[in-house]
Amino acid sequence: MSGRTAYGRWGAGRLPAQGPVLVTGASSGLGRECALELEALGFQVLAGVRREEDGEKLLTESLHDRLRPVVVDVTDEASVRACAERVEREHGGLRGLVNNAGICVPGPLECLDADQFRRQLDVNVIGHLGVVRAHLPLLRRSRGRIVNVTSGLGKAAVPFLGAYSAAQFAKEALNDALRRELAPQGVRVCVVAPGAILTPIWGKVSEAGERALDGVPAAVAEPYRAAFRAFMAGNAQQAAASRTTPEDFARAVARALTDARPRTRYWVGADARRMGRLARLLPDPLLDRRFSGIAGPAAGPTGRRPR
Ligand SMILES: NC(=O)c1ccc[n+]([C@@H]2O[C@H](COP(=O)([O-])OP(=O)(O)OC[C@H]3O[C@@H](n4cnc5c(N)ncnc54)[C@H](OP(=O)(O)O)[C@@H]3O)[C@@H](O)[C@H]2O)c1
Repeated sequence: MSGRTAYGRWGAGRLPAQGPVLVTGASSGLGRECALELEALGFQVLAGVRREEDGEKLLTESLHDRLRPVVVDVTDEASVRACAERVEREHGGLRGLVNNAGICVPGPLECLDADQFRRQLDVNVIGHLGVVRAHLPLLRRSRGRIVNVTSGLGKAAVPFLGAYSAAQFAKEALNDALRRELAPQGVRVCVVAPGAILTPIWGKVSEAGERALDGVPAAVAEPYRAAFRAFMAGNAQQAAASRTTPEDFARAVARALTDARPRTRYWVGADARRMGRLARLLPDPLLDRRFSGIAGPAAGPTGRRPR
């Protein structure tokens, strides 16, 4: 089959959009859009949600009877195992795994306690790897694909999103290692890295940002307070003004799953692409200068802040 679509030409250079695909974090934002888009294209979509009611809501939005919600919390090994067992029972294999579920824990690193930092890594890194491990036998059987959702912040860390950046850097490293480990087994692995896209994550980040400085003594919070507040406000504005849409993201995931020769990386949005380029080309001092407005000007050699 071949023909023109929003993605270019199906046929030569494209694989058919068929077979089961699991999308984690499909209750909202990018995962939701992606699940509905992949269903529309022809995939059998297993839409990962943490609550039954989110699955029911998604079903009311599904138009093609090819989407089934599956309850999976990526930090809960039993639920991940149950998900893999269900995929095995109902489909026998897996054509694609989209590791999209994620959270963002904002705050100056000095103000985050170990539990907050652990939660960030539990969801975005350790949970993600657990999902990969549980589904690899099924992906191997189908010569399937893994799509890891990272971010522009997986290549350059900005102040006040250090925990999130650390998780994205780690996810990038896992992606590279998995890509090289699994290539001989016929499982392709690639990254989809979006820039700012307006989704519910930004509301959650703003709320968490409000509380980020509350848990530490005022003397610890004070040096950061004004700059952090300005950063959070700027971030929210950037997301609201972003011209990149969840549909752009869903299209990139679809390409990663159907390109006959998938790229190793699909950037989504000019800001993400720019971040990747800056991180690759600029030496550290120039990158520092690029981000210097965020946390405030650097102290001079005497340790005093410039006036
Ligand atoms: N939006 C952006 O600007 C942007 C930019 C770069 C990268 N990203 C990445 O894109 C991905 C999706 O973000 P989004 O903007 O769509 O955020 P979102 O609207 O907040 O969606 C996050 C999804 O992850 C799920 N999730 C959270 N913790 C989970 C857990 N323990 N187990 C399973 N699912 C869990 C959430 O489920 P619940 O509803 O149950 O909490 C939700 O479905 C994230 O990995 C994020 O880092 C987003």
